[in-house]
Amino acid sequence: MRAAPGDAEARLLLARAAAARGRPAEAIAAGLRALALAPGRADAVALLSALLAGRRLEGLTLEPDEVRAVTAALRHPEADPQAFAGLAAGHLTARDPFGHAARLAAGAGAGAGGDAAAAWLLSPKGRRALADPLLAALLERAINTDPQLEAVLTAARRRLLEAAADAAQGADGAAALWHRREVAGFAAALAHQALSNEFVFAETPEETARVGAVADALARRARPGRGDEPVVLAWGLYRPLDRLPVADALLAARAAFSPAVAALIDRAVGERREEARLGEAVPDLLPARDAVSVRVRDQYEENPYPRWTRLRLPRPGGWRDGLAPFFAADELAALGPAPRVLVAGCGTGRQAIAAAVRYGPEAEVLAVDLSRASLGFAVRMARHHGVGNLRFARADLLDLPALGRRFDVIECSGVLHHLGDPAAGLRALVACLAPGGAMRLALYSARARRHVGAVRAELAADGLPTTPEAIRAARQALLASDGAPARAVVATFRDVFSLSGCRDLLFHVQEHRFDPPGLAALLAGAGLDFRGFVLAPETAAAFARRFPEPARRRDLSAWADFEARHPDTFAGMYDVWCRGPA
Ligand SMILES: C[S@@+](CC[C@H](N)C(=O)[O-])C[C@H]1O[C@@H](n2cnc3c(N)ncnc32)[C@H](O)[C@@H]1O
Repeated sequence: MRAAPGDAEARLLLARAAAARGRPAEAIAAGLRALALAPGRADAVALLSALLAGRRLEGLTLEPDEVRAVTAALRHPEADPQAFAGLAAGHLTARDPFGHAARLAAGAGAGAGGDAAAAWLLSPKGRRALADPLLAALLERAINTDPQLEAVLTAARRRLLEAAADAAQGADGAAALWHRREVAGFAAALAHQALSNEFVFAETPEETARVGAVADALARRARPGRGDEPVVLAWGLYRPLDRLPVADALLAARAAFSPAVAALIDRAVGERREEARLGEAVPDLLPARDAVSVRVRDQYEENPYPRWTRLRLPRPGGWRDGLAPFFAADELAALGPAPRVLVAGCGTGRQAIAAAVRYGPEAEVLAVDLSRASLGFAVRMARHHGVGNLRFARADLLDLPALGRRFDVIECSGVLHHLGDPAAGLRALVACLAPGGAMRLALYSARARRHVGAVRAELAADGLPTTPEAIRAARQALLASDGAPARAVVATFRDVFSLSGCRDLLFHVQEHRFDPPGLAALLAGAGLDFRGFVLAPETAAAFARRFPEPARRRDLSAWADFEARHPDTFAGMYDVWCRGPA
């Protein structure tokens, strides 16, 4: 029976109603039905992106039409593909054909299981699993956060490298594997995944040696061409293609390669070259002088974070709706029709680009950061999104008052807790805020990060360096540590699944964490009036059940009580709006 268009509409209404009542599982199930009934429907994709983001979904089974819908959603321009990653990986590992490889990996002992899974997957028997469109969409568009899937992918990568290295040395039969179309397609998708997660998978010393041999083989090619695809892909599975001496030759010869490899070269070499150019052109307002800022800058120069691929743009000019729960009508009106906005510590630009759209084309948005590599990425993405009212500059936010500029709104998310003295950073921002201006801050919660704090302390005690090798090794130990409660929890965090995320989460050179009394003192010390937290509907509903009087929403002692009972409430940081001195 064919579904009537109204069925999708009805499911969407159900999904929205369930979300508003704080029932995410019900909302997701209804949203998925809507998407399956009307694949590619932009509002369903957008709603599901918001509902799924950051959620772990245990035991959710997908119908075939839902699998197709999720595959399409991963590639949809309105989607946040990362939101669909858990769903996609959960389905792949639970259901055949790919589920067979996952069971093989889980069945035998560690390592051996992965090898058995990879052997099956790359044999003709694994053809359907290898060519699964959901797998390709997940690998190309998102970062996998499922350890079981990672075990299979890690072993498959090893096998592909062996075959490419052997083929480069003329070994009989080794090239045959690469000649199979589904193998080459899978290898290209896996190389996208490796680029996205910054080569975070475990690597054995033998693999490191083989990667070196592959690099030697490539160095001998003055003009790489289609016949070199296995070695190009093998390198791209382990290292950034733009670091190859022949990187520019690859880019120049991209048309000679298959479309999948050409797309990989565009992303891995073309985009990185563009970011470097754009980053160099970002004006230097104020060079970092503070010692902690210099160390933080160096970390983000090496590992810009977060590297993102897609952004679901907010409604242009829709900023007042977001601020209305926190500010009186006259306070909002005083911010003007086109506010001057500062995004302090904009990183790779996601927040700044969304802000530039949300505050409307007439608003002037300035976004600053310490890291030129992050800014280069941000400028490229801003151009890609066609945002014209956003300027980027390099500056330490501590020095911003010297510019003598005032802003009606300041947003600073995930930044102040990385300063040596967050209170000094906040005072600097307040000095740049127009009288009665609005400020949005996001800061780490000590309670929500209690497990991260414990793991960080252990790693710091080990005195580990922050090289990719050391981070990979520490991460493997974390993923393997059965039974240690803090480690087991942290091992499920999305940041663990990319190298820059891992570094940001566990190896950051500077991290402060707050609690509600500390937050109250920080804000009061800077003369800011706390106006409330930005909350998921289910959190708002749970808080209202415990503290029914609306005024308590602005009472940080009530929040201290609530957070003690619900310690993971602020896993995504304290996200607060406050008002500056009049
Ligand atoms: C975790 S990232 C967050 C980026 C962005 N706000 C977001 O939410 O995606 C932290 C960023 O703060 C920047 N940062 C840290 N200290 C800073 C300072 N003193 N001045 C300017 N930027 C700073 C870092 O360079 C880094 O890019």
